[in-house]
Amino acid sequence: MRKLIILAMAGAIFATQVGIGLAMFDGNPRQGRFLFREQCRPCHMEDATKEGAAGEYLGPDAKRQAEWEEVFGDIEALPCYDEWDLSEDELNHIGTYLHQGAADSPTPERCG
Ligand code: HEC
Repeated sequence: MRKLIILAMAGAIFATQVGIGLAMFDGNPRQGRFLFREQCRPCHMEDATKEGAAGEYLGPDAKRQAEWEEVFGDIEALPCYDEWDLSEDELNHIGTYLHQGAADSPTPERCG
């Protein structure tokens, strides 16, 4: 039993370190959800009316985890990057929310 606990702890530590190594995605997904709805959704839904809107649904389940990693690995390349004014922490929250709810994640989430 003791061995199992130690193994589980080692696994958890390893998992967090791999997570940090990949990208950020160590933020608060609940805060990310709030920020995404406030900052991104007005342009990223089917019936978006905001000026310059993409007009297509975008939410956690719109991409796979690897795709979110790609997007956030080069976030400044997004055509809308200049439209927002978010701190690194806030972006990390949003990225964490999107990554955790990705289509191929254990908990896919639709932003609706
Ligand atoms: C002022 C409107 C606007 C806002 C606000 C906005 N976007 Fe965009 N975004 C666009 C447009 C226009 C495109 C280019 C059209 C497209 O690719 O769908 C785009 C493209 C993207 C893409 C690439 C398209 C894709 O499906 O892969 C991603 C990812 C993205 N935005 C994420 C975000 C995130 C995250 C936020 C919030 C932090 C955000 N956007 C806020 C207008 C906006």
